[in-house]
Amino acid sequence: MSDRGISRREFGKSAVAIGGTAALAACLDRFSSPDIPEGTDPASLPARQHEWKGYLADDDAGNSQLSRHHVVLLLNYDRDGTPADGDRQQVTDALHSLERAYGWENDGLMFTLGYSPAYFERFDAGPADVDLPAPEALAPFEDPELDTPDAVLHLASDHASVVLAAEEALNGERDTVNDTEMAAAFDGVFSVADRRTGFVGTGLPAENQDVAGIPDSEPVPEESPLFMGYKGRFDGNQATEDDVTIESGAFAGGTTQHLSYIRLQLQQWYEQESHDQRVSKMFCPAHAAEGRVEGVGENLGTASGVEDCADDVVERSRREGVVGHAQKSARAREDGRPLILRRDFDSTDGGQAGLHFLSIQASITDFVATREAMNGTDVAEASGVGQAVNNGILQYMTVERRGNYLLPPRSLRALPPADPA
Ligand code: HEM
Repeated sequence: MSDRGISRREFGKSAVAIGGTAALAACLDRFSSPDIPEGTDPASLPARQHEWKGYLADDDAGNSQLSRHHVVLLLNYDRDGTPADGDRQQVTDALHSLERAYGWENDGLMFTLGYSPAYFERFDAGPADVDLPAPEALAPFEDPELDTPDAVLHLASDHASVVLAAEEALNGERDTVNDTEMAAAFDGVFSVADRRTGFVGTGLPAENQDVAGIPDSEPVPEESPLFMGYKGRFDGNQATEDDVTIESGAFAGGTTQHLSYIRLQLQQWYEQESHDQRVSKMFCPAHAAEGRVEGVGENLGTASGVEDCADDVVERSRREGVVGHAQKSARAREDGRPLILRRDFDSTDGGQAGLHFLSIQASITDFVATREAMNGTDVAEASGVGQAVNNGILQYMTVERRGNYLLPPRSLRALPPADPA
């Protein structure tokens, strides 16, 4: 944990990746306790766990800006059979303590807790009125590990010390956070099966590029918010929180979450492709021809403008010999908007450049349809574009893991029954 020559931002990220009491202590030592906003009465928070937008900061262009540090814990319920009421109360008390301790905002702490198909197997039937299939491979050319923990907790804060302290408190290793006493912890109810970490924000990918999958030439631009060198997640290219909310039935007000881990191999991306070739593959060939993406793409404002080239994608690909990632993916839209709301973040877990692709959508079917559009199998069959080569960014990424979850409404987030009606 030597801090010599390590910037504040990079140090914060490394501490999150390492995790644990020592990382938290080093973090607080080095930066002294940051001024963290206090929480509020949990009853005043939105009924939807995934309702973040009204609480998130905006970037300069006006897009929602995710917090800088992320931890995802895959959790197993410690008991067989259906959950005990006492366990539900314990989970509720622990989460209420975090909500009282930290403001629900970038500078404080935001989180969601979801449940997998494996969790619901303990009941007679799956979650009522929700289609929650087990995860599976979603392309003929991938062979991911399929995650089967019972639950998934996503913690996000601009401060490394906050996600680390919240994690420690839930593990039962801290009695207070932000001067607020924890009424309960997760110990005895949930055990951590896996821990994933990452970061979001301009500068962090460049500072953390000394990992496998990125060439030694340090090609990731300082201004880039993503390892691949361009800006993503424009508000105009996202589903809204209303779009992705389950509208009716027992889990109305909830949503579904897909979480995959994608390994990046960016040698060729940076060493053999020009900016124009990268723009063709990330956005679309017309964007490259028209010079629409300057640098990392800040100039695009709040929308990529990709609908201008998302019609007749197969025909265009025949002519161009290359198809863009956003161009293909934009075929999966409803009412002119994408089906999924992306909250993905880059990662150096395992010393490897990667990305935890976390998205929420009204149904897992919406995710599958989006991924099918992104696969571009139809394009590869009908044009000179390969299954991976010149086919968006598929050549530079490998999906290693997939998991599906239900994020219930806040009132049902503590070990929900399958049919809460
Ligand atoms: C290495 C992983 C990925 C990177 C670096 C990446 C990056 C990007 C970028 C830069 C854009 C254009 C700007 C924007 O609209 O945000 C975009 C658009 C998009 N991506 Fe990805 N992406 C990745 C993986 C995925 C995956 C796994 C999916 C889901 C199957 C996906 C779905 C989409 C969608 C739906 C859009 C917007 C399309 C529209 O405008 O309708 N992306 N992505």
